[in-house]
Amino acid sequence: MQSGHTDPLTVELGERSYPIHIAAGLLTDGTLLSAHVRAKKAVVVTNTTVAPLYLERLRSTLQTAGIEVIPVILPDGEAYKTWETLNLIFDALLENRCERKTPLIALGGGVIGDMGGFAAACYQRGMPFIQIPTTLLSQVDSSVGGKTAINHPLGKNMIGAFYQPGAVFADMSTLNTLPDRELSAGLAEVIKYGLIRDLPFLEWLEAHIERLLARDPAALIEAVRRSCQNKAEVVAADERETGERALLNLGHTFGHAIETGLGYGEWLHGEAVAAGTLIAARLSCDLSWISEADVRRIEAIHVRAGLPVRAPKLEVARYLELMSHDKKVEDGRLRLVLLQAVGKAVVFDGASVAQIGAAIEARCT
Ligand code: NAD
Ligand code: GLY
Repeated sequence: MQSGHTDPLTVELGERSYPIHIAAGLLTDGTLLSAHVRAKKAVVVTNTTVAPLYLERLRSTLQTAGIEVIPVILPDGEAYKTWETLNLIFDALLENRCERKTPLIALGGGVIGDMGGFAAACYQRGMPFIQIPTTLLSQVDSSVGGKTAINHPLGKNMIGAFYQPGAVFADMSTLNTLPDRELSAGLAEVIKYGLIRDLPFLEWLEAHIERLLARDPAALIEAVRRSCQNKAEVVAADERETGERALLNLGHTFGHAIETGLGYGEWLHGEAVAAGTLIAARLSCDLSWISEADVRRIEAIHVRAGLPVRAPKLEVARYLELMSHDKKVEDGRLRLVLLQAVGKAVVFDGASVAQIGAAIEARCT
């Protein structure tokens, strides 16, 4: 079947550059998929929710193109983003005598993409990797840029590797089965791009958020394209997060503390990022960088997207302890992504513990 898609975007990384295809119907586009899955067999890592929805469609397309599929079906959920689940992938790769050149395809949301990518980075020191993201969050963020990881009980995404995919296929028709709560969670990462570096995109979102919630196909494709364009530019400029890429973590230091503090899976990643973004906005306002009206504007777009804007009531000391494990801590100093203006984020290590604590307190329920 023709997917009728427009030109792919490209993540420009020299000889490791790769395309991001965004269109409805990609799972049935055998010509396109087989051009990137150049092997007689491929491993498809997915989970118990996504497999009944999309595994057969992908398997049939690849089989018609002469590619045998070895499915690896994992338990579903953030709570399973662990060493134990990762080992299930390695077990399957070894049992099926996969070779260094056997491609691994991640079919699912960010949890599957992050774990599948980490497995691909490690198995025989690196096998070809392809992302087929099926949640809004994974289409606009996690499938692009090569961050792969599993969680540790002490901290989120603490064990992982940078490992870029060879291609990303965002099949927009998969969003039709996504629960509303997951769609909203994805919008948190979409809004993020507007807040950190793309004011016109934020204005577009303010004008079209209801179309996105109603799953208007044209609006969704526009949101995914503009998000991926932003992400591709940042990753091309700073693949290993030595500078600008850290800005993609707006709200994440607080959000990761929420996810770890409540127990993985209690709040969705995007929900925790939304509440964390409002803490970052509060602190930015307390530093006199943005106005109270700006904070209200940031709150309003998150509320309209169906996202929580108040953080759960953990002790401030507990937040600070959890945040001390953040990957942006340098020489013991916490570096936070804050807003210098709506549409312009910066990394700042000058906020005092008292200021950070006050912002958390102010935004807790
Ligand atoms: P997820 O992978 O848990 O998927 C959300 C839920 O939707 C799951 O239950 C999943 O099985 C289900 N699902 C997936 N596709 C579906 C579909 N088409 N229809 C119906 N149900 C579907 O969560 P997520 O929000 O996609 O990803 C969150 C993860 O991504 C977190 O672990 C986060 O740390 C990670 N992440 C990574 C990066 C990165 O750069 N690598 C960036 C952002 C987030
Ligand atoms: N989601 C943050 C990053 O990819 O850098």
